[in-house]
Amino acid sequence: MSQRKNGVFIAFEGLDGSGQTTEAKLLRDFLTKLGFRVVLTKEPTLDSEAGKKIRKVLDKKIKMRRNRIYSEVKRSVQIRPEELQNLFAKDRKEHLKKTIIPTLKQGKIVISDRYLFSSLAYGAASGVNLNWLIKINKNFLLPDLTFILKVSPKICLKRIKKRGNFRTLFEEEKKLARVWQVYKTFPKRFKNVKLINGEKTIKQVFSQIRTCLWQKY
Ligand SMILES: Nc1ncnc2c1ncn2[C@@H]1O[C@H](COP(=O)(O)OP(=O)(O)O)[C@@H](O)[C@H]1O
Ligand SMILES: [Mg+2]
Repeated sequence: MSQRKNGVFIAFEGLDGSGQTTEAKLLRDFLTKLGFRVVLTKEPTLDSEAGKKIRKVLDKKIKMRRNRIYSEVKRSVQIRPEELQNLFAKDRKEHLKKTIIPTLKQGKIVISDRYLFSSLAYGAASGVNLNWLIKINKNFLLPDLTFILKVSPKICLKRIKKRGNFRTLFEEEKKLARVWQVYKTFPKRFKNVKLINGEKTIKQVFSQIRTCLWQKY
């Protein structure tokens, strides 16, 4: 896959409820008003076969298979954590090929609501080996800038409840805490990853994001 590009690739990451979708939209609107050509996209995607299957797993229509206990649930609707992560990688490959790379080549700004670091953090928290996760994702283009919104699992859950939709697979406090333990290591481990205090107001969080962008560009 060609990695060459001209645009700028920005990703938002964090726990469910940390405000990624909110802040990604704000940034899209802000940059568009400034005259930039911006495409907001998200992972998992909604249009690939892998993306559709992932969505079913996250919505618990397909059960995660753990500890070899297949019990009453039919095999056909179960999936191993590793298989789920392979689906994420497959979906990402398509996302890059169909959307991210072509858009960057047009010189536009791509903002992705979740990307590769979500797989690493959520995957590792579900018991998948982190080095294996890095390996299956290692050929993918890294964002020029990734914002990880830091919000405690408690506050995330409060916001999710307020948001009012169903709780997906990872939206329980202990699980979120495990995911955060992985996320928090990324700013040191990878380049161009910024931690943002996501517990402020929506405007204040956005102001930190803007400052980071101006510092870099
Ligand atoms: N900084 C913030 N302070 C308070 N509530 C927020 C903040 N950012 C987002 N929210 C609200 O929290 C909920 C989850 O935000 P959302 O952007 O959907 O999170 P994510 O995409 O990370 O799951 C939404 O109802 C949103 O309006
Ligand atoms: Mg979201």
